[in-house]
Amino acid sequence: MAELERKRGGAPVAADWTYAPAPESRDVVQLRDRYGLFVGGEWLEPRETYTTISPADESALAEVGQATPEEVDAAVRAARKAFDDGWSALPGAERAKYLFRIARVLQERSREFAVLESLNGGKPIKESRDVDLPLAAAHFFYYAGWADKLEYAFPNRRPKPVGVAGQIIPWNFPLLMLAWKIAPALACGNTVVLKPAETTPLTALLFCDVLRQVELPPGVVNIVTGDGRTGAALVEHEDVDKIAFTGSTEVGKAIQRQLAGTRKKLTLELGGKAANVIFDDAALDQAVEGIVNGIYFNQGHVCCAGSRLLVQESIYEPLIQKLKRRLQTLRVGDPLDKNTDVGAINSRMQLDKITELVRSGEEEGAEIYQPPCRLPEKGYWFVPTVFTNVAQSYRIAQEEIFGPVLSVLTFRTPDEAVEKANNTMYGLSAGVWTEKGSRILSMAERLRAGVVWANTFNRFDPTSPFGGYRESGFGREGGRHGLEPYLVFE
Ligand code: NAI
Ligand code: MG
Repeated sequence: MAELERKRGGAPVAADWTYAPAPESRDVVQLRDRYGLFVGGEWLEPRETYTTISPADESALAEVGQATPEEVDAAVRAARKAFDDGWSALPGAERAKYLFRIARVLQERSREFAVLESLNGGKPIKESRDVDLPLAAAHFFYYAGWADKLEYAFPNRRPKPVGVAGQIIPWNFPLLMLAWKIAPALACGNTVVLKPAETTPLTALLFCDVLRQVELPPGVVNIVTGDGRTGAALVEHEDVDKIAFTGSTEVGKAIQRQLAGTRKKLTLELGGKAANVIFDDAALDQAVEGIVNGIYFNQGHVCCAGSRLLVQESIYEPLIQKLKRRLQTLRVGDPLDKNTDVGAINSRMQLDKITELVRSGEEEGAEIYQPPCRLPEKGYWFVPTVFTNVAQSYRIAQEEIFGPVLSVLTFRTPDEAVEKANNTMYGLSAGVWTEKGSRILSMAERLRAGVVWANTFNRFDPTSPFGGYRESGFGREGGRHGLEPYLVFE
């Protein structure tokens, strides 16, 4: 029993109260040793394979395909055939039934998907269980509702499906990004070839099981696994009509160059360096929760993460004190433990990138704070980190770190806050914390970001469009806006 200490005038409390382990069971997931490529409703034996691992302990999980350009071609041909053979001509109400069924099965099998997502990607089970899975299902439900209403969404414009969509997704929200991509594409009558990220292929492969379960016509959705080479083959393929990409700005730019001058449609959802702006009249404890959720949610592997904290000078001291105290309570460790707040870093490569940028922050002169924290011996881990004394020119204030690392800057006036917040090449999201409604509105208008959250952060909803300005990309996902990239108009 922990030692009891007496709080000022209060009852005795435990000084060192720790949680007992509460691991979610892995048994609900049945992994195969080896996965094929899902093409035309069948498992195609891949020519090349690689091993996908668990980032929490580096253990091997399964062998998966590294699809070659020929195999990508087979997938595109299957998608074209399904498009021509009836999917695109199916009444919207019929397509909607498949989307509803997918949503229902995702709900039914959500525990299995959540465990697998945490196993393969390193995110805490409470996030995959309470965020990724419910939102993925909600996305299918939402777009099921649009499938038979496209004429109403775009009156007098005669919306038609684009054709075959090539979709390339990242590793931070593997199943959720799959849902963001596949749901609107199918609702609009397109067929799909989707490539999951190389480090997190397993939930996309389990999703193929769902497609069979709901008896989706073969070839409507094809899944090819592999790294950037597979993605490049999909982008290059002549018979792909549209590319939807979520990932790094670097690769997004390369894809845009490659597609310039072709007839292919393109949407890009790239990086971010969001400002989370805290005014002196904000509810501080609430703001601290929002800051923590903004940057430590999903280990900071979030394109819209609130990675630049802008604090009004008059509340700087108390806010930072509260934030540091809150950081000490974050539990870092086993992604499958239900008490874990911060899980494993997704890959060795990402850990190296975070480590390098944090070192640059220290070298450039920022002050680092990390709470005492015992990290597991195996696997990829990074302690939640806060940098204060950050100048706008530092790399940690400019570059996307994509890890649990917060850079704190200060401001005096709303004008200065706007200027600093917009001083970035990105423009994906921003947050404003204040009690004044008028200030929220004026800030939302002046912040150059696709999403501006007010007194909250990292809130997602399928009905709300999401996407960026500038180097954060173009095109919107979610909402009625999210239909447009998957339609052509007469
Ligand atoms: P990445 O952009 O290389 O990977 C994203 C997806 O693109 C993966 O499926 C990958 O296989 C594919 N890909 C890679 N090269 C390609 C190519 N030439 N053609 C077509 N597809 C290609 O991102 P990476 O290397 O995993 O992460 C690097 C940095 O990018 C991260 O540290 C982070 O800053 C940022 N990033 C941003 C994301 C976002 O949600 N906006 C998601 C993932 C990474
Ligand atoms: Mg890359």
